[in-house]
Amino acid sequence: MAMGKAFDIGLGQLAGCCVPASEAALGEASGESTYLRDVQVRPQPRMAAPQKAAQTFYLETFGCQMNEHDSEKVAGVLLARGYKQVEAVEGADVILYNTCSIREKAAQKVFSRLGEYRYAKKEGQVIGVLGCVAQQEGEEIFRRAPWVSLVCGSASYRKLPQLIAELEAGNRRVTGLDTDTDETFETEITRRDNPWRAYLTIIEGCDKACSYCVVPFTRGPERSRTSESILAEVRHLAEAGYTEVQLLGQTVNSYADPSTRRMRFSDLLVVVAEVPGIRRVRFTTSHPRDFGKDIVEAIEAVPGVCEHVHLPVQSGSTKVLNAMARTYTRKEYLEKVTLLRAAKREISITTDVIVGFPGETEQDFEETLSLMDAVQYDGAFCFKYSPRPNTPSLKMDDAIPEEEKSRRLGVLLERQREIQRARNERLVGKTFEVLVEGKSRRENQWSGHASSNKVMNFTSKREESLGDYVRVKVTAATPNSLIGEVAAE
Ligand code: 5AD
Ligand code: SF4
Repeated sequence: MAMGKAFDIGLGQLAGCCVPASEAALGEASGESTYLRDVQVRPQPRMAAPQKAAQTFYLETFGCQMNEHDSEKVAGVLLARGYKQVEAVEGADVILYNTCSIREKAAQKVFSRLGEYRYAKKEGQVIGVLGCVAQQEGEEIFRRAPWVSLVCGSASYRKLPQLIAELEAGNRRVTGLDTDTDETFETEITRRDNPWRAYLTIIEGCDKACSYCVVPFTRGPERSRTSESILAEVRHLAEAGYTEVQLLGQTVNSYADPSTRRMRFSDLLVVVAEVPGIRRVRFTTSHPRDFGKDIVEAIEAVPGVCEHVHLPVQSGSTKVLNAMARTYTRKEYLEKVTLLRAAKREISITTDVIVGFPGETEQDFEETLSLMDAVQYDGAFCFKYSPRPNTPSLKMDDAIPEEEKSRRLGVLLERQREIQRARNERLVGKTFEVLVEGKSRRENQWSGHASSNKVMNFTSKREESLGDYVRVKVTAATPNSLIGEVAAE
């Protein structure tokens, strides 16, 4: 997702409304969409057709988990065509940037990266821009960076094999910019980066139209995959050794099964968790409007459904929420939190917050702070409002000066840091199951995530294996992580 900074405190990697990336210190989300014209292939002077077997590609991703996962699928498409992925940009035959435009800084970064090739591009090399900036800027990218050959928005990824074939056939410029699709991007092969946790998009696009957000323009309308195809993929993932799946969507809980089974999102969580071999199911990002008791009940009933909900609030002021077109009031949001807090299992709640939305008064900001106090989030991605092209809020009066946005962000982060410190300290002495994901260079030091998505750094004298699940007792806490040791058997 987008860049700018998200100030995340807390739960390591998760996703924001649009599954966040990051701006200040707590975390960030993203998501983007589009409106499709059809794939356009303009006849251009021909280049030598690339030798498929020898072709290499370099793929860099900006932004949210949705983008990360899209990149895994794009890599799968290229690998299936005989390309080889390389880690270094130098000398790659195809250079692809999967971009984010949720905040202005993210979009700027892409153009500065492209600028590096103005003179450095080699004969025959293909440079492509994918994702949200591609969708938003379209053919303008060719004008600003004529050395680019491929511009493809995320809603057109299903056309990617065709676009690549066009490039191989010698077309110099190809675009995929339509968004009026009812299809999702499914691939035979997805090259997944993490050996234990598999991301899986269940709903693409967004119909919510928040007034500040580019996602409905860059990622197009909501399209859900059928529950059958999701379950088939989960079974396949389990057979391949994945134990954790993370269901993704800009508004994952707005999932609407297009098949005759009409499975509810909460039922999908349960059946995915019951697939043999799957130990954990995560999901992100939930929209408060579509968040119901049935989801809490699924978490209560099924241990494999992770005890964590990312529920972006954006503001604690009903007036600002109205201006943002978020479709809920402060009171309605807090009612959802009450549902979560009443659960039989303790559920971690994280959020996204925007400060400095046009017209946000000191009083509105105070209401955001008091909401943070009331909810006691386990993590928050906090952003300064960034005006974006085509969005309704661009035309709103009463812009907040940059320094004031920064001040509010600082106050918010400090408040959230203290909340997290206190929340994590409460956990000292408790034991949690942790998926072992990393080994430190320091002897006997390991790290992983608990079901709550909290980061756990722990000591174990045993030779743990990466990918194992172990019980870890918390011995100390910081605002951003827990420290522990493997619990005695
Ligand atoms: N300015 C600042 N933050 C934004 N977000 C989305 N659009 C903007 C914007 N224009 C934030 C929201 C969302 C997260 C992914 O990014 O908090 O939940
Ligand atoms: Fe999330 Fe609203 Fe953007 Fe949709 S329009 S991705 S709900 S912030």
